[in-house]
Amino acid sequence: MKDDQTSGIEPAASPEFFACMDRVNRAIQGSNDLESMMSDVLDEVLAIFDCDRASLVYPCDPESPTWKACMERTRPEYPGILSLGIKIPTEAEAIAVFRALLDTDGPVSFGPGSSHPLPAHVAERFDIQSQIAMSIHPKEDKPWMFVLHQCSRPRVWSDEEVRLLQEIGRRLADGLSTLLVLRDLRKSEEKYRRIFETASEGIWAQDENLRTAFVNTVMTQMMGYSKEELKGRLVTDFMFEEDVANHLSKTEDRKKGFSDVYERRFIRKDGTTLWTLLSATPVFDGDQFKGSYAMFTDITERKQAEERLRESLEGTIRVIALTVEKRDPYTAGHQNRVATLCVAIGRKLGLDEDRIEGLSFGAMILDIGKIYVPAEILNRPGKLSEPEFDLIKGHPQIGYDIVKNLKFPWPVAQTILQHHERLDGSGYPGGLKAPDIILEARIIGVADVIEAMTSHRPYREALSIDVALQEIETHRGTKYDPEVADACLHLFRDSGFDWS
Ligand SMILES: [Fe+2]
Repeated sequence: MKDDQTSGIEPAASPEFFACMDRVNRAIQGSNDLESMMSDVLDEVLAIFDCDRASLVYPCDPESPTWKACMERTRPEYPGILSLGIKIPTEAEAIAVFRALLDTDGPVSFGPGSSHPLPAHVAERFDIQSQIAMSIHPKEDKPWMFVLHQCSRPRVWSDEEVRLLQEIGRRLADGLSTLLVLRDLRKSEEKYRRIFETASEGIWAQDENLRTAFVNTVMTQMMGYSKEELKGRLVTDFMFEEDVANHLSKTEDRKKGFSDVYERRFIRKDGTTLWTLLSATPVFDGDQFKGSYAMFTDITERKQAEERLRESLEGTIRVIALTVEKRDPYTAGHQNRVATLCVAIGRKLGLDEDRIEGLSFGAMILDIGKIYVPAEILNRPGKLSEPEFDLIKGHPQIGYDIVKNLKFPWPVAQTILQHHERLDGSGYPGGLKAPDIILEARIIGVADVIEAMTSHRPYREALSIDVALQEIETHRGTKYDPEVADACLHLFRDSGFDWS
């Protein structure tokens, strides 16, 4: 053993020492591939030490059941363990060698001139007359063994050779650390690439500038574009214009680290619509937002079926609305106009389009219960008697009873039932108060009042819009939902709302 195991290259080291280290450094730095780096370094070591075999063995671990030579360079006349290509059971001799190496941080010689005997069985099998070895410790890995064999003659290793081997071993540990991490990264990249490519769902990744960074084959099949046609393109290029603002808002959520699941439609290459259910996840490098990726399921068929159902529902609703209006010409168009205003208020309040659609359908048949009220009472000029008024006040309940068994995906029946309820409990038929009145009914309640007041009736002239708005403003927060009232007032006074 050398006398100084920790100080590295000593001042007294010869120019040859530095020349040798330079050759080893070049071999380590000359490759970013683990196999070729190990092979190149061992070639240099074989030449520098003029020995017969140089090997890297893994693991240098007495607890491991087997070990193997990962790389080996030999003189042709002394083929080694690597050529056998097998894992070797860790038996007593190997355990003794591994323990000796792990007990020190420098090289240990075995055989002539050393207190450590050669591992007899291995020495006989591989013609080893002298051996010098050290454990090397790459980061994030088990120790390796770096070993030289002299087979042609017994050899006592000089102090300078021991120092040189130690220094080469340290450099090898650094080189292995880097390349092992790189190898693991490549393996993991390959693994994820395979997952991406074999996934049954589409995968689409966008960078921080919304440009397509990656798509898998399934996604290209869904979209009808090739990978080359999609890569680098803005994701928004394939969206409906009206969805872009929503996509930008979702991207802002990704920047804050939020994942999300939602539906999104795209325009395929052939111009048709692709409906997807997507699950989006942000990608960060440290704190830096790098974009996002999403898994896409094609739900086009389901959406088309939903669309057919919706069209059928809409047809049903239009027939019902027409029935009411044919019987009661004075309110012809009333429900449609209420629906138009409801949609505008719903958008002003930021409701999603699906909810607005349900709201609109509810408004289109809000007075269906009036078919049970005799026409002469509905449209008779002059004041109604109390029993007559009670009859009219029954129309929300009757409307509810008619519609309640229709399976709408929205609360249409409740909307009809509650459209004359008021926040303070002064409405009918239930005298419900604020917490029990659904938003759809609050919106229709306001729109219904505005439309009714500004329309001509047999028993009175149409009132001006200012008078109608005044009614809403006066009872804002008592009868009418304050946010709905504000949205309505804003629509007429600031946004120039037009019934058409
Ligand atoms: Fe009504």
